Amino acid sequence: MPVIFHPKDRSFHLYNEQISYVFTVLKNGQLGQLYYGKRIADRSSFEHMLVLRSCVMGPCTYRDDPNFTLEGIKQEYPAYGTGDYRDPAYQFSLADGSRITNFVYVSHDIQKGKPALKGLPATYGGEEEVTTLAIRLRDEKIGCEMVLSYHIFEQLPVITRDVRFENHSQQPVMLERALSAAVDFYDADFEMVQLDGAWSRERHVHTRRLQSGIQNISSVRGASGHFHNPFLALKRCNATENSGEVYGFSLVYSGNFLAQAEVDVYDVTRVMLGIHPFEFEWKLQAGDSFQTPEAVLVYSDQGLNGMSHAFHDLFREHLMRGVWKNRTRPILLNNWEATYFDFTEESILNIAKKAKELGVELFVLDDGWFGQRNDDKSSLGDWNVNTQKIPSGIEGLCSKINELGLDFGLWFEPEMVNEISELYKAHPEWVIGVPGRDHSYGRNQYVLDFANPEVVDHIYHAMKNVLGKANIRYVKWDMNRNITEAYSSTLPADRQKEFFHRYILGVYDLYDRLTTDFPQILFESCASGGGRFDPGLLYYAPQGWTSDDTDAVERLAIQYGTSLVYPLISMGSHVSASPNHQTSRQTPLKMRADVAYFGTFGYELDVTRMEDEEAQAVKKQIAYFKEHRDVIQYGDFYRLEDGSRGLYSWMAVSKDRKKAVMAYYKVMAVPNTSLKKIRAAGLDPDLCYHCEENGLTLGGDELMNFGMLCEIEAAGSGGCGTDQGDFTSHLFTLKAK
Ligand code: DGJ
Repeated sequence: MPVIFHPKDRSFHLYNEQISYVFTVLKNGQLGQLYYGKRIADRSSFEHMLVLRSCVMGPCTYRDDPNFTLEGIKQEYPAYGTGDYRDPAYQFSLADGSRITNFVYVSHDIQKGKPALKGLPATYGGEEEVTTLAIRLRDEKIGCEMVLSYHIFEQLPVITRDVRFENHSQQPVMLERALSAAVDFYDADFEMVQLDGAWSRERHVHTRRLQSGIQNISSVRGASGHFHNPFLALKRCNATENSGEVYGFSLVYSGNFLAQAEVDVYDVTRVMLGIHPFEFEWKLQAGDSFQTPEAVLVYSDQGLNGMSHAFHDLFREHLMRGVWKNRTRPILLNNWEATYFDFTEESILNIAKKAKELGVELFVLDDGWFGQRNDDKSSLGDWNVNTQKIPSGIEGLCSKINELGLDFGLWFEPEMVNEISELYKAHPEWVIGVPGRDHSYGRNQYVLDFANPEVVDHIYHAMKNVLGKANIRYVKWDMNRNITEAYSSTLPADRQKEFFHRYILGVYDLYDRLTTDFPQILFESCASGGGRFDPGLLYYAPQGWTSDDTDAVERLAIQYGTSLVYPLISMGSHVSASPNHQTSRQTPLKMRADVAYFGTFGYELDVTRMEDEEAQAVKKQIAYFKEHRDVIQYGDFYRLEDGSRGLYSWMAVSKDRKKAVMAYYKVMAVPNTSLKKIRAAGLDPDLCYHCEENGLTLGGDELMNFGMLCEIEAAGSGGCGTDQGDFTSHLFTLKAK
């Protein structure tokens, strides 16, 4: 059993071959953190690890022990109001207006496997793969209990945590804060890594030295958002991509979140993450319980790449589900940037026909196929085909596309409604907003009240009606604005702060019903590009549209950052037209494909307008990807160059280390400068690898230590070769001999 309980000092040791996590029941009955990091041997007691720091002016819990002040103790799930002045993990508000609680250890239970979280996405694993430790604490005075659950994965440096609050009393209580996990570290010698950005530049990596005080990232938009991702990492200042200690934290949730690191004056760092307490409150009636989302904790002593491998393996093997879990993604063509709203059945079929000739496997019909939708001003909510545009209907079009030898996919934006729509006419009360007050418009649309089960039910039937009639294999689920004027007319006044969480539960419910009814459909989540790219949605939709920005240069930073947490098989990546529609930048077709290969891969341009030479190049690209997508989508991904030298480089290595695809990208040419040599990672040092592109056979040891010479930039007046200059990319496809 990878969880050991030591009765003598009441400590728990969770471990596998890579990590140890140790905590104890303190003498006041609360839980104290002792150690989290690289695997250490088990001991009969861990008592010596408990450091009680006497804090001057620190209130002591015991009169006879001035050192027992909660301000000076590392804790597992801290409370406010009894001596610890740092931010707490939870907070109650009680009937008498008081807010002080005292949850103490009652019992624990260790079990093989991992129970599901009702209504919420969560990682899963069988009895041989995960062990669960559930600790029950009780506040006798208020008759409430909490169950802190820890799940340790046998083969991964991963522990996940969640908390359930139960009201066993006869009175309602208010839960005002219910974070998913808290970890106190002994020091603050870390840099905090976060992924942030905005529309079209999502998930750029930002790193800052931890400072005294609170540093956090969050979302209060009703979605995880473009701006910050529900992830942070603490890395040792000397940690690199391939070496050093990194602690990664991720939240399996798609709504408002908070992820923060608080450094106190003693340089103790407290990391916490969970549902954002702002605009959150949950009324726990007698007998009710509240379940928090799951937090994932990853430890790596092999740098950021080591952390990413753990997240990737966990999400691929223990979060994604269904038939698409371990299936390479079809190469698709999406018509959005090819036609926008301006298409007919005929133009769609022409594009699909050409796409098939080039080797594409799936055609996706994006926005504009329903109601009277010829621009973004109308028809969201009316999920009936527009027969003026598509006379054969979705069934007919789908059959025609299938006859061409392509699978068919369709776009929806289930959570939205336009004022100009049949749905709004029938149910204006279904939009989110305070009656009698203005409702903000965003992209000409309102957000439907998914906290109201009736609304979810209606959309479920409308979508089921379309999906059930045609052979649809893919759904792109879009979401193009965030919530304002949060209010549900179906909730009583004292439950309005439940709205944001209930909304996301409604989204999960709809996903759950549709993925259960249509297991063959590959769902891709999307939110104006990557505005809700989070682990919560990966549970239902095993891929996400990474960004609306398909410019090859912009995508380097976006995909680089996204890969910190998310596996390549989940990252929607398309080749689009040049000049690019988001940046107007012109880049070679080769570079656009070389970047898009590192994801799900597809095209989003009008292939009927391509010159023959370009079409032939696309054909070759598709053939190349079909041959190598296994390595890219199932292999280990290593980031090699982070853009700071004007270069990006990364590679995917198959799990057996026999195959690899290494990529090199140069943004701007610099004359007469250094050699561009990149050191590979993850190869077998004892094997020799043949490189398809340059014909060289090199040792894995050479490639990882000497490196691969990628480019010698032009130095004279002779000009650059065709494969040099701005926006140069090279692939090195390696096969073990
Ligand atoms: C935003 C998405 O990110 C795009 O890919 C496209 O589907 C549009 N919405 C359609 O309205």
